[in-house]
Amino acid sequence: MIPNQWYAVLRGQDVKNKPVGITRLNKKLVLYRDSNGEVACLEDRCAHKGVLLSKGKQHGDAIACPYHGFQYNQQGKCVHMPVLGKCGVIPRTMQVPAYKVHEQHGLIWLWNGEQQDSYPEVPMFANFAEYKGFTSLYGWTAPIHYTRYVESVCEVYHVPFVHKGSFLNIWDPKGGRVDDFRCAIDGHLITSDFILRPDDERPAQDTLTAKFPWQRGWRIGVDVLMPNLVQIRNDVFDVYLVATPIDDENTWVCFCYQEPKKDLLFPFFKPLPIPLWRQLRPWMMCRMERFIQQAKDLEAIEGQWPRASSLSANNLIPVDKVNAYYLRLRDKLIREAEAGKSTQSKAPAVPIHLVTEPAGSALETNSL
Ligand code: FES
Ligand SMILES: [Fe+2]
Repeated sequence: MIPNQWYAVLRGQDVKNKPVGITRLNKKLVLYRDSNGEVACLEDRCAHKGVLLSKGKQHGDAIACPYHGFQYNQQGKCVHMPVLGKCGVIPRTMQVPAYKVHEQHGLIWLWNGEQQDSYPEVPMFANFAEYKGFTSLYGWTAPIHYTRYVESVCEVYHVPFVHKGSFLNIWDPKGGRVDDFRCAIDGHLITSDFILRPDDERPAQDTLTAKFPWQRGWRIGVDVLMPNLVQIRNDVFDVYLVATPIDDENTWVCFCYQEPKKDLLFPFFKPLPIPLWRQLRPWMMCRMERFIQQAKDLEAIEGQWPRASSLSANNLIPVDKVNAYYLRLRDKLIREAEAGKSTQSKAPAVPIHLVTEPAGSALETNSL
């Protein structure tokens, strides 16, 4: 994973008034809210004998280990050892690592890197940061490497194949041909736009207004924001997801849907402007994503190998350009971080690049 980046690790609503244990970024973590409602994050391991602190209880601003009751504050400092009594001198080594966290956009973000005097903004698509309607956030774990999850969302031309068995597939673009593909990169943001359509003689634009779903093409935008966010835009819904590594085999996936612009089951009716219904629709989209769509994705990609994606692990084609840019930018940010440079205080010197090319042409215009 890329150092010196913010990673979303949990929904804010999942941390209430007791410690929560999670594994993210190959680390065991415990999160809790202090008396001001601020989230604290410590290594989930008591400095005394290695017991999970997430099994303990919260006492004010501290959490107490369930084994011998040692209490640790938000900075991971042991502030009370019952065995020594109230006036006991606490050894300085009785300390657990504390992590920098920040809560925003309904998510808890963890800084994966060195402590700094100031930190960059957490990454978020402007489209969602500014959205005023209802959204729903829903997280779950998937048994694949996070890079494979990101790339599966980057290339939606798998939809006509992977999701064929789904009853929702009546609205999916048929044929899987991609036209009018554009891709650009600006700092940590990769954007793309294309038409996914049936493979017939019509000009791509004509497929967008076809009468029947099985004749219809879709204009779709797919954007990646480093280190691990992907957004899909179309005329029915806007959604983003984060794919945060749990470990080298598993990913914590969190989807965020805005209110859909249409109801696919009743496309000719305007959605009812009732708040409860407006809230329910993004909630349902998230569940549909997990239990219907992702179940199909996993059937296809669960055994994919090598587990982690990379440029050398794939044989990418021109319409995989978002994928290619993502993997290159990832390599670049890892190299920069390893070289000890700050990669977040200023955007990397990646040239803005806009490419329009038909499917089938070469990838040589990449310029990372
Ligand atoms: S193991 Fe935690 S207090 Fe002893
Ligand atoms: Fe899919």
